[in-house]
Amino acid sequence: MCGIIGYTGDGNDVLDVLMTGLSGLEYRGYDSAGIALTNGSLSIYKRQGELSALESALPEGGLDGEAGIGHTRWSTHGPPADVNAHPHTGPDGNVAVVHNGIIENYRALREELAADGHVFESDTDTEVVPHLIERELAAGADPEAAFREAVGRLEGSYAIAAVFAGSETVYAARNESPLVLGLGEDGHYLASDVPAFIEYTDRVIYLEDGEFARLDADEVVVTDADGTVVETSVETIAWDPEDAGKSGYDHYMIKEIHEQPDAIRKCLRERVEEMTRSITVEELANLDAPESVQFVACGTSYHAALYGARLLRERGIPAQTFLASEYDVDEIPVPPETLVVGVTQSGETADTMSALRGANRAGATTLALTNVVGSSAARECDHVMYIRAGPEIGVAATKTFASQQVALALLASTVTGAPSQSFVEGLRKLPDQVRTVLDDSSAREIAETYERADAYFFIGRKYNEAVAYEGALKMKEITYKHAEGFAAGELKHGPLALVTDRTPVFAMVTQGSKPQKTLGNVKEVEARDAPVVAVTDSRELVEPYADFVMEVPETHPAFTPILANVQLQLISYWVANRLGRSIDKPRNLAKSVTVE
Ligand code: G6P
Repeated sequence: MCGIIGYTGDGNDVLDVLMTGLSGLEYRGYDSAGIALTNGSLSIYKRQGELSALESALPEGGLDGEAGIGHTRWSTHGPPADVNAHPHTGPDGNVAVVHNGIIENYRALREELAADGHVFESDTDTEVVPHLIERELAAGADPEAAFREAVGRLEGSYAIAAVFAGSETVYAARNESPLVLGLGEDGHYLASDVPAFIEYTDRVIYLEDGEFARLDADEVVVTDADGTVVETSVETIAWDPEDAGKSGYDHYMIKEIHEQPDAIRKCLRERVEEMTRSITVEELANLDAPESVQFVACGTSYHAALYGARLLRERGIPAQTFLASEYDVDEIPVPPETLVVGVTQSGETADTMSALRGANRAGATTLALTNVVGSSAARECDHVMYIRAGPEIGVAATKTFASQQVALALLASTVTGAPSQSFVEGLRKLPDQVRTVLDDSSAREIAETYERADAYFFIGRKYNEAVAYEGALKMKEITYKHAEGFAAGELKHGPLALVTDRTPVFAMVTQGSKPQKTLGNVKEVEARDAPVVAVTDSRELVEPYADFVMEVPETHPAFTPILANVQLQLISYWVANRLGRSIDKPRNLAKSVTVE
């Protein structure tokens, strides 16, 4: 977790670059933030709270700097507090360090340093790093040697950057946490993720595990652990910085919900040919049809994976879905010819990466289904398919879920052969149908009616099951209210005990997903006075039993849940909005979770 940024150069104001970068990285953590600038000595400012707290702590006239680093934090070791915020420094104040990841041997290092007389201020694992560096400096090492020596002592995951008093160089190293370098005309950048510096440059180098980088205004040198210079490839990023603005919406989340038609269109582009009724995913041209498929994923991506597995099973391919944190190849058989698919928006989720690495070791063919070009998942899997949703800033995943579902439909069709006419037509119609749902939704009015409910339940069968889980997750994430999703048939096996007149039940009753049976479950909750909101393509069927009906257009049954989910996203958004929640940055959560 956490986000880091670094810059050295004379083309831009260092403070501006750092603060812009941090605001682009706040989705990775936002319980504290800090910066360090070199200007002869080191100027360090850090504050608990969102970036605005740091902003108000900065001197009014700005800050001079030749180089600098910054950090936005999602706490792992030690609570959010000024003292635990990064950058951290050592006893002499000669180096400032920012870190994303977890240093697993920090206790041992701390004890070793304490025995040498070092006193620590914070509860963090990171603070050992500047102490190690300063011990080397005190012993006569130059900054680069001291940095390399200190990093060489670390076990665990890290993207680390350091600046030294009296120097314009930024040093960095990476192991199992993302780190990308940006090459500008008048300076060089580093960050956990490209949006942090995309407004300055689109030319990037992805650092690999075990590599070090030295950034000066006129030069970037990447080396391996032995100090040998590594040949790097420079990639050009296609994202437009405009995509990352709010475009007049109050929140990124609602903007991204409205971007879904476009995101789906991009996912389908050049992959679906209606005339010949064919689906071709160029990236998958060399993928052999698997005997079986295992999905690994977390959070919203796990719900997309549940949907994908169902599509594959229906087409005769055995497919299972695992929470990535529970996927252990020592315990779960991975038969030959198994394809293991990591569904991950960011391509950096530690649990998913760990599952994919296990699958690689077990000899499976691996595929990353991801949004982020050049992400760890994209680089470490045998195959990669991009969902092409564009940057998603809101912590709660919305458009990327829709794009994942569409990409999974394309994947299912690619590995199982010719799709039906109605499947292809359904895909082609989807962007416009999502637009119709967005334009006609009564979610705002319904949210007002139920904003004070005790809990929210979501039910659906077959294709709608995964969306029931996702609807509840969205509600929890951004409203902080109790919400649960159930396979509709399970409701009577326990959860029904929770149903009262203060627990609205959102029921997805749609053609092709056992509408009559779900209707039976609707009647059960209605008989117990629970308010019912039916999300349906068959208004007449549900109207007698529902307090509200939210309609979705008719389509192939595999795509109805994508439309139904849009209604549920809007409900959560408007409830959270009414309750005044921090919608884009919900408490305790982060968009990219790079710790296990
Ligand atoms: C975090 C985010 C979720 C996301 C999950 C998996 O928990 O808050 O929205 O679904 O990580 O992320 P991934 O990038 O692997 O899809």
